[in-house]
Amino acid sequence: MITYVDAQSKSRRTPGVIPLHGAEGFEGMRKAGRLTAEALDMLVEYAQPGVSTGRLDKLAYEFAQDHGAIPATLFYKGYRHSVCTSINHVVCHGIPDDRPLREGDIVNIDLTLVVDGWYGDSSRMYPIGEISRKAERLVEVTYESLARGIAAAKPGNTTGDIGTAIQSYAEGERTSVVRDFVGHGVGRLFHDEPNIMHFGTPGTGVELKPGMIFTIEPMINLGRPHVKILADGWTAVTRDRTLSAQCEHSIGITEDGCEVFTLSPAGLFNPLAARA
Ligand code: MF3
Ligand code: CO
Ligand code: CO
Repeated sequence: MITYVDAQSKSRRTPGVIPLHGAEGFEGMRKAGRLTAEALDMLVEYAQPGVSTGRLDKLAYEFAQDHGAIPATLFYKGYRHSVCTSINHVVCHGIPDDRPLREGDIVNIDLTLVVDGWYGDSSRMYPIGEISRKAERLVEVTYESLARGIAAAKPGNTTGDIGTAIQSYAEGERTSVVRDFVGHGVGRLFHDEPNIMHFGTPGTGVELKPGMIFTIEPMINLGRPHVKILADGWTAVTRDRTLSAQCEHSIGITEDGCEVFTLSPAGLFNPLAARA
């Protein structure tokens, strides 16, 4: 399994130590998370048939510039874009390009804005025009998977409880959970400990404590869970070419649950709920 933490080369992490953040960290994440959510909200009206993912990337870049933020993925490990745009059977890390989006596509846009040194990491699905019933169902299951994971994110539970909540729901809906990419600690680093797997066994893993800040970002497939990486070294696709969807929030564990830092101020996080 590839994990971001294992892959991180030079880092300020202390291996095995999970940072616990105080009020200052939560305030920093609130600002970064909110700006990221506002940028993702801004993109909703542009995500239409005929618009290229390269255009969406440029819009995200300009938004960051206008708001004094830096897109974390720009020049990250050789990546040259402000967002990842993952269309249909692309699981994650799709690279923006000049090709126009087409009616019926489902696109994940993943953006991390750095504000005052804090990383707000979030992604959502953008349905392009009318989408099929099966695409709609996948998007709904993916949002509910994240919601189940967030509901399990509280002190006393473990990282394995989050994974179990996601996996049991998603597999009960006859979809599958991607194993090769995980959620991650976030804060003053893009990818920190702990790893948040979107599958698991109850009570295993790391015990959740107030002050932990991490992402939950399940990737859910209509077919089998297996992925492969294309020759560009980034784009992850489903091996069986079935549709895949993802959504992501950055959250912080509180005394009695968690705070979600990347909620949409405009209520646009779940595109199907927003449309209905
Ligand atoms: N934002 C992604 C995540 O959720 C990471 C993208 S790294 C990139 O962790 F280099 F592919 F952009
Ligand atoms: Co992300
Ligand atoms: Co992430």
